[in-house]
Amino acid sequence: MKIHRSADYEAMSRQAALLVAGQISARPDLVLGLATGSSPVGMYRQLTEWYRDGILDFSHVHSVNLDEYVGLSPDHPQSYRRFMQDNLFNHINIPVENTNIPNGMAEDLQAECDRYDKVISGFGRIDLQILGIGLDGHIGFNEPAGALSAGTHVVDLTESTIEANSRFFEEASQVPRRALTMGVGPILQARRIVLLASGRDKAQIIADAFLGPVTLQVPASLLQLHPHVDLFGDEAALALL
Ligand code: GLP
Repeated sequence: MKIHRSADYEAMSRQAALLVAGQISARPDLVLGLATGSSPVGMYRQLTEWYRDGILDFSHVHSVNLDEYVGLSPDHPQSYRRFMQDNLFNHINIPVENTNIPNGMAEDLQAECDRYDKVISGFGRIDLQILGIGLDGHIGFNEPAGALSAGTHVVDLTESTIEANSRFFEEASQVPRRALTMGVGPILQARRIVLLASGRDKAQIIADAFLGPVTLQVPASLLQLHPHVDLFGDEAALALL
């Protein structure tokens, strides 16, 4: 794992965006695994700026997002489809048909999981997977558990995640209890992984994930087994590393 330590969120976002931009420039048809949450927003903003400046072209990029809430329509303000449109897709030239996010409104959720796995396997491998990390160590919505699924699956969110994500909703009761998430299989098979972490409240889980034992109780600790992880963090998040 390579650690990229930045003074603050803005610097971290720029450093991570530089890596992503370099990968897209080297391989215009990159398959990009994307994450939601507050951690990658600054990076998306920077990538958008470079697109506007004519430095980046997303027209041949394909994207696969990690997860989506069950029961939120694509235009719901807190759906991850809406998040991606608002924070990235609406501002760059990636064709919408090149973007993939699980459908949390699917009537048959298992069929949707199977469909999503086919989308991912159709790409072979994800070239570059962007990740954030939950306070409980989740990646995507792969929550701590006795066993983890390799493929896309429906997950019951933990209380810790519901509470952490309630900041985006009017109240905690509005946070969906379930989500669809890419499994750990395609994440760990990605050629390269970028993990972003910012703020003091991420310091302990980052230390647990990268200095502690590899355990399903901290799903991000599986990243210790991956040969090509770039961890981008600000001083606060990396304080215990
Ligand atoms: C959510 C997402 C994750 C994300 C995590 C951390 O639960 N499903 O993909 O990494 O939260 O979010 P944040 O970056 O806002 O701390």
